[in-house]
Amino acid sequence: MIRPRRLRQAQWIRDLLSEHALTAQDLILPVFVIDGQNTTEDIPSLPGVQRKTMDLLAEDLKQYVDMGLRAAALFPVTPEDKKDETGSESHNPDNLICRTLHYLKKEVPHIGLITDVALDPYTSHGHDGLLKDGEILNDETVEILCKQSLVQAQAGADIIAPSDMMDGRVAAIRQTLDVNDLHNIMIMSYAAKYASCFYGPFRDAVQSGGKLQGDKKTYQMDPANSNEAMREIALDIDEGADMAIIKPGLPYLDIISKAHQSLDIPLFAYHVSGEYAMLKAADQNGWLNYEQGLFETLLSFKRAGCTGILSYGAIDALHFLNTNSSK
Ligand code: PBG
Repeated sequence: MIRPRRLRQAQWIRDLLSEHALTAQDLILPVFVIDGQNTTEDIPSLPGVQRKTMDLLAEDLKQYVDMGLRAAALFPVTPEDKKDETGSESHNPDNLICRTLHYLKKEVPHIGLITDVALDPYTSHGHDGLLKDGEILNDETVEILCKQSLVQAQAGADIIAPSDMMDGRVAAIRQTLDVNDLHNIMIMSYAAKYASCFYGPFRDAVQSGGKLQGDKKTYQMDPANSNEAMREIALDIDEGADMAIIKPGLPYLDIISKAHQSLDIPLFAYHVSGEYAMLKAADQNGWLNYEQGLFETLLSFKRAGCTGILSYGAIDALHFLNTNSSK
């Protein structure tokens, strides 16, 4: 008789047979940086996540490295008076993100630092690129993204992560880095990034949402499309991306799985702000258990074929993993 339940009868046999596992090595923590010292700010739509000044961030990251965290993705909150039409603060070598990179490299040398390349934290209109007569200019934006990548790499970023979805930016950034002798700086491109409502809490966190004129549908992808994602990822590989991100995560597990089967590149899922906020909100209402929901979600990304995951729950997952492995 065939009885699949025979193999589920005790924890030891279930563990022995598990096909996929989530480990500390899979996790990247996104963090929000503000200017100043010794200050934190709550983000109401992202419970449990705070904006922090770089000194406090360094303290956190030291502790997280000891727990097994390998990398963090940094997002700056740009003061309103530094935002303008062209996002010029993005390539100021003394901007908040560059100062943070210098500081963290010194204070927490053993963590990988990933920086976002796009103009939305710096533009007065909230778009990722230059806006002219209602159009987002591609090639002119790419030129600025190259300058932005260069100042970030020179300040200490290990991985440049372009999230802007302009065409041709990976090749242009790779070339800029290489001619400046920055051959070892890695590129993790947001290759398949969808125009999604799940970024809402992130836009609150970096204070870009209220400003956004219109939507991002002329550069971020249509949620109806799957083949187009394969094309976008393949193009970024051709242009020199070392790793690719698919974003958001959970609603796009099919895209992750398809990319994993057909493309040969380390793949990351971004379990984005709205996905994290949904788990928190359901937990706060007593509708599900946050920790279990988070763990199940992160494991689903591994099952779908991800190499790793960016998640605001990364530290909660590390706690969960550390507690569960010690029993
Ligand atoms: C900026 C950027 C966004 C996110 C990461 N980088 C927002 C957007 O494109 O509007 C979203 C991340 C999240 O929701 O957690 N280009």
